[in-house]
Amino acid sequence: TVRIGVLTSGGDAQGMNAAVRAVVRTALAADAEVYGILEGWQGAVDGGDYIRPLGWDDVSGITALGGTVIGTARCAAFRTAEGRRTAVAHLIEKGIDRLIVIGGDGSLTGTDALRAEWPDHVAALLASGAITPEQAERHHSLVIAGLVGSIDNDMVGTDMTIGTDSALHRIVEAIDAIASTAASHQRSFVVEVMGRHCGYLALMAAIAGGADYVFIPEQPPSADWHAHMASVLRRARNAGRRTSIVVVAEGAADADGNPITAEHVRAVLSDEMGEDARVTILGHVQRGGTPSAYDRWMASMIGHAAVEQVLGDASEAQVVGVRANRPHAQPLVEAVAATRNIATLIAEKRFDEAMAARGHSFVQ
Ligand code: F6P
Repeated sequence: TVRIGVLTSGGDAQGMNAAVRAVVRTALAADAEVYGILEGWQGAVDGGDYIRPLGWDDVSGITALGGTVIGTARCAAFRTAEGRRTAVAHLIEKGIDRLIVIGGDGSLTGTDALRAEWPDHVAALLASGAITPEQAERHHSLVIAGLVGSIDNDMVGTDMTIGTDSALHRIVEAIDAIASTAASHQRSFVVEVMGRHCGYLALMAAIAGGADYVFIPEQPPSADWHAHMASVLRRARNAGRRTSIVVVAEGAADADGNPITAEHVRAVLSDEMGEDARVTILGHVQRGGTPSAYDRWMASMIGHAAVEQVLGDASEAQVVGVRANRPHAQPLVEAVAATRNIATLIAEKRFDEAMAARGHSFVQ
């Protein structure tokens, strides 16, 4: 029998549970066995009971839950070759020959590194007597599919990452709430949203929430942004608007690379414009709580597709994402390289190319 391992890794995201459930039930329906690797890659490094069989009922009723019921971690040990070798030994010991990793950009990049090193680890484990020649033969390579679970929508290879839609709902709800109190007092608010180096959440939330101004890493303003922001906000106030709402992505910076923080923007609003300004940093409320309907069905759909992928003729590791509402697979190596390239484009100040490279889901 084929034995599929499933794990969630890195920051949790709403909808990961729906993906885990779809993986488990699709695998069982295809007569494969499925093992949960608990607490992300840390569970593979620790082995033992952290790698255990999952049955149909183990994933009952989890679709509506936020987070990930099989646990996740940002695993330091997995960033070392030694840690990865230990993980390989444990996966082989449990007879896992296919793996589905649900995680963000960092986790999938690490997964790709593991895939590349896999044969070397197997050879070393065989040489040291940690595995038998039969195990080495059976596990000479690892079939992998990655599902991007992250609220940041920062990975190439999918229109949406699992969790982004729920996070957006949460942010827009918060902006709506802030807008009403802001309007009552004619105040200005700066709302900082997550997204790490990606401005997707900030931009989409600003549009959906009707904000006045937004700062995102992919389209940094020139160093004299104070004057431009002031003129845009004044124009709106002069036209009768009772609030100014500025959304700041946590990774925002100016074109010279100086970080633009929410506090920085607030100081400009109050010191240079004389506004009564407040800051709201949304933090982890964006990541927790109930997944949206979209995240539930999208994660279920691609969880199902990932199992088909690893059970099929998948010699190359794939990222299974969504394109135009259909499952879409792309080689993991390509997706990882293209995602890394965006950081390079931003560092080289090739901002338009960075924006375009985010993919067609990113409004320009
Ligand atoms: O990648 C998801 C994310 O929530 C980012 O938006 C944010 O920068 C980061 O994780 C926060 O990490 P932690 O939960 O480890 O504080």
